[in-house]
Amino acid sequence: MKYVYFLSLVLVLSSAFVSRSATNTVQPTIKASMDRGKTIYLQRCMACHQVDGSGVPRLNPPLDGASTVKGNDKLKLVRIIIKGMTERVEIDGEYYDNNMSANPDLTDTQIADVLNYIRNSWSNKASLVTAAEVKAARTKIK
Ligand code: HEC
Repeated sequence: MKYVYFLSLVLVLSSAFVSRSATNTVQPTIKASMDRGKTIYLQRCMACHQVDGSGVPRLNPPLDGASTVKGNDKLKLVRIIIKGMTERVEIDGEYYDNNMSANPDLTDTQIADVLNYIRNSWSNKASLVTAAEVKAARTKIK
């Protein structure tokens, strides 16, 4: 009897372990992408948007909490990264005047990585961006 009890305990514990590792399978993907994206962010974006994503008032918009950054319009985000932005824009009720540099040399994977980083850092939480989605978006950007 004791043996049966022990055996069922082992079964319960191992099934808990198996289901936990199964639900975690997507996590390493986004974590690895964000790690690569952080390097790109520190090299190319931090000078304007700041290390904590808070931006610079009236010059560079914050990325932390920004509706576009967390939103589902991935085409818009890919376009901003590739093309940059030079017009004065209103974002979430504030105006920003600085020019954002273009990044035409970043690969699809690098763009997905930096987007995953800004979409899931600080207080942001958003869905994964894949290199395939960036590739598809790129064909619509002239
Ligand atoms: C030279 C400064 C500068 C650099 C470098 C820069 N940005 Fe920007 N970024 C801006 C400015 C300024 C805007 C707002 C557009 C404008 O005023 O023309 C902006 C806008 C954005 C937006 C849109 C924000 C919103 O809420 O609509 C995103 C996303 C963004 N930048 C991400 C990035 C990423 C990622 C990088 C690095 C690959 C980067 N930026 C590099 C200055 C910069």
